[in-house]
Amino acid sequence: MGAVIRGIGVYYPDNIVTNADIEKMVETTDEWITTRTGIRQRRLLPKDSPLMASDFGTFAAKAAMDKAGMTADDIDGIICANINPDKQFPATACFIQAKLGVKNGFAFDVTAACAGFVYASNMAHLMIDAGQAKNVLVIGAEILSRVLDWTDRNTCILFGDAAGAVVFSQGPKDRGVILSQMKSDGSQADVLYLDCVGGGSSSAGKGMAMDGKQVFKAAVTEIADIVKSTLAKAGLSLKDLDLLVIHQANIRILNAIADKLELPPEKMIINVDRFGNTSSASIPLALHDAESQGKLQPGKLVALAGVGGGMSWGCNLLRW
Ligand code: COA
Repeated sequence: MGAVIRGIGVYYPDNIVTNADIEKMVETTDEWITTRTGIRQRRLLPKDSPLMASDFGTFAAKAAMDKAGMTADDIDGIICANINPDKQFPATACFIQAKLGVKNGFAFDVTAACAGFVYASNMAHLMIDAGQAKNVLVIGAEILSRVLDWTDRNTCILFGDAAGAVVFSQGPKDRGVILSQMKSDGSQADVLYLDCVGGGSSSAGKGMAMDGKQVFKAAVTEIADIVKSTLAKAGLSLKDLDLLVIHQANIRILNAIADKLELPPEKMIINVDRFGNTSSASIPLALHDAESQGKLQPGKLVALAGVGGGMSWGCNLLRW
C-alpha cells in the first residue's frame, strides 16, 4: 500500500515576537539575529496561556482532518513528535486522541527532536504499508518558549511555538512515501539537549543547551548526504527532485544545503524568517506553505528532511 498525504493543517499563536522585541529581553540586535539566522519574527505563546502542546496538536490535526474530509471515526492511529510533551507520560498523542474524540487504534509519541516529524512519517508509512492502519495522523506540536532559557541569547532567539499535522492514508502503491531513511549518532548527544523538568534521571533541568557551531556543521553535512542517498536508494537523483522541504533551523543552514545540492531557490521552502525554529512542527509548517504556493502538484517528487538533537536526522521521499 502507498501512504499518501490527504490533508495538511497548522496552528500557531497570534502573538508575534519580532527581533526588536527580543532586543528588550537579552543583549542582542535585530541585525545580529537576521544576518546569523535569517529569523525576523517568531510566534510565542503568551506566558499566562493555559494551552498545552496537545492543544496545539489538536488544532493542527483538526485542520488536517478537515482538509482530508475526515472525522474522528476515520482516524486509526496518532503519532505525535515533540520535545516538550504535556506530561512525562502518558504520550501527548493520547491527550490529542481524547481531545479529537478519536476512539480507534493507537496513539504514541516519538522523541527525535527536530527530526521527529520525519521519523513519525516513516512509521506511519510502514504501518499503512503493513496494513496495520488506514489513516494515521502525524503531528509535530511544540511549545518551546516554556523550555528556553530566556537569559541565554545563544538559544532563546532561535525558537518559536507552533504545530503542524498531516493525515497519511492508504493510497496507490506508486503515490505517497517511496522511501525513508532515519539515522542517529548518540555520540553527539551532548551538542544539543534539554534536561528533563525536575532533573530527570541525569541532571538538573536548566533549559535547552547547544553547541551552535557543531550543530550547524552536522546539519549541513547530514541533510545533504541523506537527501542524496535516499534518492539514490530509490533509483533517483537530484535532477528528479521537484521540492526539498527541510527543517527550518537557520537560513544559512538552508542556503548551505541548497548550495551543496545545487538546488535552485524555487525548489526549497523557506519560512524560518516568519516562524524561527519550531522543531518537530517546522516541516509540516513548511509543507503547508508549499501547498499554499501550489508546489504540491500530482506527480511531483518531494523530499522532507529533518535534523536535530541526538544527533538524529532523516529523510522521507514522496511522490505527490
Ligand atoms: N546576539 C548577539 N550576539 C550573540 C548572540 C546574540 N543572540 N548569540 C551569540 N552571540 C555572540 C557570541 O557570544 C559570540 O561572541 P564572541 O565572539 O564575543 O564570543 C559571537 O556572537 C559569535 O558567535 P558564534 O557562535 O561564532 O556565531 P555563529 O556564526 O556560529 O552563529 C548560531 C550562532 C547559533 C546562529 C549558529 O551557530 C547556528 O545557527 N547554529 C545552529 C543552531 C541550530 O540551528 N540549532 C537547532 C538545530 S535543530
